Amino acid sequence: MLIKQSEDFKASEVTPESIYRERRRFMQGTLGIASGAALLGGAGLLSPSARAIATDPDAKGEELRYVIESELSTDEELTSYDDITRYNNFYEFGTDKGDPKKHSRRFKPRPWSVSFSGECEKPGVLDLDDVINPHQLEERIYRLRCVEAWSMVIPWVGVPLGPVLERFRPTSKAKYVAFTSVLRPDEMPGQKRSFIDWPYVEGLRIDEAMHPLTLLTVGLYGRVLPNQNGAPIRLVVPWKYGFKSIKSVVSIAFTEDEPPTTWNIENAREYGFYSNVNPEVDHPRWSQKRERRIGFFSKRETLMFNGYADQVAHLYEGMDLAKYY
Ligand code: MTE
Repeated sequence: MLIKQSEDFKASEVTPESIYRERRRFMQGTLGIASGAALLGGAGLLSPSARAIATDPDAKGEELRYVIESELSTDEELTSYDDITRYNNFYEFGTDKGDPKKHSRRFKPRPWSVSFSGECEKPGVLDLDDVINPHQLEERIYRLRCVEAWSMVIPWVGVPLGPVLERFRPTSKAKYVAFTSVLRPDEMPGQKRSFIDWPYVEGLRIDEAMHPLTLLTVGLYGRVLPNQNGAPIRLVVPWKYGFKSIKSVVSIAFTEDEPPTTWNIENAREYGFYSNVNPEVDHPRWSQKRERRIGFFSKRETLMFNGYADQVAHLYEGMDLAKYY
């Protein structure tokens, strides 16, 4: 299931100074709740016609507007749109890599809302249509070209999760964030089989969830997410193995205790809660030291935290990463 990958991480984008400053301010965590609200509540992500999103997995979705390049983007060669959308893991549609594209045609990604609950002062619901407001345009919709820990380089489009979470005012008891995928056996044939305890669930520690690299993702290659890639909204956590990036999210809850996660429930020996890409900690059945990127023949060295060590290593200072795998 998981291969992992990454090489040089380089932030090298030419952007207007005002945008750059704003982003820097965001990265330093000084943008407040109001800006977080604006990120989702007022961002004009889609053209109005995008409301009618094609569910034909062969058709490309609507274009996303006002997307700016993240300074955290890599400049590595991108995996092709074709490969990103035909080689997937999305067990709700079957276990073969080609199943999600083949069997996601009936899935309806709109209308859609995500509930926010648990340890927070202002629980609420985020309707995806809130995002589509062409009158209040925000500039902080990013394209983050990042190396995926299952050997692709994908230009995701989304908003950093942190400011969205702030909007619901997590309390001091909110130590973790729990994510749940949609449960719709009528549209997701894989859910008619019980090899996984549906729905798919995932979790992050709250500081991981707040990290600027953690993206609430709505698109790729400048277009809305195809069904097979987790439409209409999914997580991307670039320094972790791919299964942490939960797809088709319907609920997000702040919790005091570490939440259960699907692969840990299924096989705790092989899949831990943290699942940070780590060449030093082998999977019980294979080495994680090297990997092959999709579309390339030769293998390459796996990098610590998938190449994002400079950005995230401080989150794990003092932790035994073999124990907390
Ligand atoms: N989310 C849900 N709901 N169901 C899944 O089966 N698979 C995970 C993750 N998110 C999965 C999921 C795994 S194992 C991987 S590697 C990535 O999605 C794959 O994302 P991609 O198909 O967009 O590359």
